[in-house]
Amino acid sequence: MTLSFDSEGARQVERVYSTPDIVHQRAEVLALLAPRPGERILDVGSGPGFLLEALAAAVGPEGAVHGIDPSPAMNALAARRAGALPAVSLALGSAESLPYPDADLDAVVSTQVYEYVPDIPHAFAELRRVVRPGGRVLLLDTDWDSVVWHVADRARHARVMAAWEEHLVHPHLPATWARHLTDAGFGITAQVAVPILNPRLDEDTYSALIARTIAAYVVDRHGLTTDDAEAWLADVRGGDYFFSMNRFCVLAVPV
Ligand SMILES: C[S@@+](CC[C@H](N)C(=O)[O-])C[C@H]1O[C@@H](n2cnc3c(N)ncnc32)[C@H](O)[C@@H]1O
Repeated sequence: MTLSFDSEGARQVERVYSTPDIVHQRAEVLALLAPRPGERILDVGSGPGFLLEALAAAVGPEGAVHGIDPSPAMNALAARRAGALPAVSLALGSAESLPYPDADLDAVVSTQVYEYVPDIPHAFAELRRVVRPGGRVLLLDTDWDSVVWHVADRARHARVMAAWEEHLVHPHLPATWARHLTDAGFGITAQVAVPILNPRLDEDTYSALIARTIAAYVVDRHGLTTDDAEAWLADVRGGDYFFSMNRFCVLAVPV
């Protein structure tokens, strides 16, 4: 079962995605996407709407920024953050069925979403359908094999991370997305890693917050008890703190 983006889940994502780590990630995404005034851009799985806000500033009043998300709780947060901006429109919707005509959009962006989407070939065909010739698509996702987290009990840590991977359909999507994008009719123009590095324990970091989400999620999975989860949390937070992971971006154009 993947994560639930109900009101509580949506608020947790909003908190984690407010940290300087993810603010930096959004800046990297925007630099690679390079949105221009007047463009029509879709954010698939727009979540709490941070990227919608930044895209609206970039496309200006002549442009349009569409956010779609299947979670009403996420759309409520996005509406509060960006719904009043003239360029922004929000709708319930999903990556599997994009509610736009063929070749309608200059660009599609999606961060931390396709790892939750079961049928990647179908979803990438939808991306290819809605982006215009000469347009572009930018995706960002995590490969959970990229995590370095300093712990004393490495065996327990491996069980916790294996249980946590169940929150996604595709915990290693970046390794295969070039093939899937090529099959869907895209050419890859750039791939970059976006590292997160937390070399000390600080509560306002991605890793300090996601550790709590992980500890709650893994209970009763892979034989892990509440005591196991609490002991793992104390382990990552104790002693020498060190966390690093990579998120990956791919930029693709229709061919
Ligand atoms: C981790 S959040 C990322 C939110 C946002 N893209 C960001 O980076 O701030 C994952 C989002 O994907 C959405 N989502 C899950 N399955 C989806 C699907 N099939 N199509 C579109 N969005 C989906 C969730 O509702 C949630 O808002």
